[in-house]
Amino acid sequence: MENSQTLIVSDLEQQTARIRGFVLRHPQGKDLPAFDAGAHLDISVPLASGEVVQRSYSIASSPAHRDYYLLGVLREDSGRGGSAAMHAGVAVGQLLTCSQPKNQFGISPSAKHHLLIAGGIGITPLLSMLHVLVSEGKSFKLCYCARSTEDAAFLSEISDLAGDRLTLYFDGGDVTRGIDLGAELRDAQDGSEVYVCGPRGLNEAVIAAAARAGWSPERVHFEFFGAAAPAKGDQPFRVILKQSGMTVEVARDESILDAVIRHDIEPLYDCKRGECGLCATAVIEGDVDHRDYVLTAADKSERKQMCICVSRAKQGDLVLDL
Ligand code: FES
Repeated sequence: MENSQTLIVSDLEQQTARIRGFVLRHPQGKDLPAFDAGAHLDISVPLASGEVVQRSYSIASSPAHRDYYLLGVLREDSGRGGSAAMHAGVAVGQLLTCSQPKNQFGISPSAKHHLLIAGGIGITPLLSMLHVLVSEGKSFKLCYCARSTEDAAFLSEISDLAGDRLTLYFDGGDVTRGIDLGAELRDAQDGSEVYVCGPRGLNEAVIAAAARAGWSPERVHFEFFGAAAPAKGDQPFRVILKQSGMTVEVARDESILDAVIRHDIEPLYDCKRGECGLCATAVIEGDVDHRDYVLTAADKSERKQMCICVSRAKQGDLVLDL
């Protein structure tokens, strides 16, 4: 990991049965690098097998506090092992290799009102934003969606901070009993911008509801968790790399980005979720199934570019300018 920092785990806070807070500090008690609300850290997580994997976790604490970062980690029992290892293997006193704070999900300076929508563990970056909005006296509303009170991490801190600007949605696992996005967006004040972080379904529902309600994309901010998962029906395909003169097989459960890295090609990338646009690559030929959230409709329809961390071939080979 480039430009990494070593931090020590100074405290663990069990928030819910599956969500644990990790308090990270400088090992010698120095101030930590500054960050803006909404930022995350990449962490090298040692698995029980000895393999070390990289995972990203949002910072939930206030940027005003430079002496620690608070992360919230949901244990995903059917995940790829990173969060389970954080829960089972990371103890107080342990040193962790972390990136500098990174942020693709900051508070918009132009918004007159901020509508925050959190789903489950997606509360973590929004809690950091909440600290800032409260301390700066900004206009906001927070909608916090979870299965139940017991599943809602950081709830008392959030209630204290947000007061009557907090609306809780406990759906018991039945999304039809959850948040009415159409109503929340319709009732939002003029000049509002919306921020959503939660399960993929919630993020996509907010993006779609905002588009239906006529909100311009610049007013809709979102962050997805984890690398993009394969979709049902995904098939292997080939990419022909014009500059490198190579043909690379992309497996059913692999991204083009990972496939080309496997062949020692190092394109630019960051989020691996189709959000930052850094991996956008020129398409010379082929039928692209676009799955990113950054390229414009014009970019996609003219087939000029694709985000190789998430998008795939619809059919046949792709020829890329790589
Ligand atoms: S790496 Fe961020 S969009 Fe691909």
